[in-house]
Amino acid sequence: MKLIFLILPIFLFSESFISNLEYGQMLYNKPRGISCAKCHGESGEGREIATYINDKTGKKEKLIAPNITNISYIIFYNKVKNSKILKKGKFKTLNYSAMPKYNYLVDDEIKSIYDYLHKGQK
Ligand code: HEC
Repeated sequence: MKLIFLILPIFLFSESFISNLEYGQMLYNKPRGISCAKCHGESGEGREIATYINDKTGKKEKLIAPNITNISYIIFYNKVKNSKILKKGKFKTLNYSAMPKYNYLVDDEIKSIYDYLHKGQK
């Protein structure tokens, strides 16, 4: 019985102390909505989502989820929070964006995802 009381706190502590990067990785894969990894790839390296024929030009085009492992935090934050994107120095909402909105993610969560994707970089 004494042994259980000695071991129990160790389990409790190891459960609650996940690192910021582990938390970011968890959120990246399960952000309480469609997983970022589905579109941006396992570690945010980006990938092709689909190919389609452009109605106007008749040409084959690609829908690409870009690499998000080397971008500035302000662009990252604004895109995740509002699906806004920086164009010519202004943040604009793309009404045709293929990316879902994640406005419900709080600042700490967005920062953790960002840190996870930019781990090993300054
Ligand atoms: C359904 C596919 C899809 C999902 C899921 C998705 N994205 Fe995206 N994301 C895109 C596409 C496509 C773009 C390109 C611009 C656009 O269409 O909005 C993009 C653009 C971005 C950009 C802007 C990159 C740049 O260089 O400007 C960031 C940052 C980003 N996504 C982060 C995330 C994060 C973080 C998640 C999860 C919380 C996520 N995305 C989930 C498809 C997706």
